[in-house]
Amino acid sequence: MDKKSLQGPKEALQYLAEQQARTLAPSSSGIGVDIELLDDINIESDTFIERNFTEREQKYCWGRPNPHASFAGKWCAKEAVIKAVSSLNLNIPKVWNKGDAAPLIEIEIDIAQSGAPRVIFYGDAKAACDQAGVSTVKVSISHIDAFAIATAIAQ
Ligand SMILES: CC(C)(COP(=O)(O)OP(=O)(O)OC[C@H]1O[C@@H](n2cnc3c(N)ncnc32)[C@H](O)[C@@H]1OP(=O)(O)O)[C@@H](O)C(=O)NCCC(=O)NCCS
Repeated sequence: MDKKSLQGPKEALQYLAEQQARTLAPSSSGIGVDIELLDDINIESDTFIERNFTEREQKYCWGRPNPHASFAGKWCAKEAVIKAVSSLNLNIPKVWNKGDAAPLIEIEIDIAQSGAPRVIFYGDAKAACDQAGVSTVKVSISHIDAFAIATAIAQ
């Protein structure tokens, strides 16, 4: 119903109720989580680093107090992003279809002005987001001792 077709108080109340329902309804989201042992993230391997991390990510991680933890945190974020994108719409065909050996460099975890991570998609990762109807993904990363963890929300 639109405003123009309102004919009386009943229609007006129904219109207002619909508007309120739209405002209060939570927007649908996808969610993802990933946890890794730092020992499983081999930052000694140049091939692994170059396949999976952009130059900007590499520069950031090598500049952190614990580069191993920062690389592992970004890795977790990338995997959490994949899960979040895949879980937004459960009724579409698999959007991440390049297999477990696919490089993760097309999901960049940059740092925003606020200090929080910001997700940027390139190439096939961007296409997967378009296919899944994802316009934005937010992530949160943490690491302690031998572990790193990240969660992601896709909208
Ligand atoms: C989907 C993916 C991110 C899962 O990551 P993972 O570290 O293997 O899996 P985790 O142990 O963290 O989590 C496993 C759970 O994730 C869930 N899961 C698997 N695929 C998923 C998907 N596409 N979307 C959401 N959740 C998924 C399942 O519940 C699974 O549990 P189950 O095996 O008991 O059913 C991973 O398989 C993948 O495709 N990665 C992209 C490519 C890649 O990793 N390349 C490596 C380059 S060297």
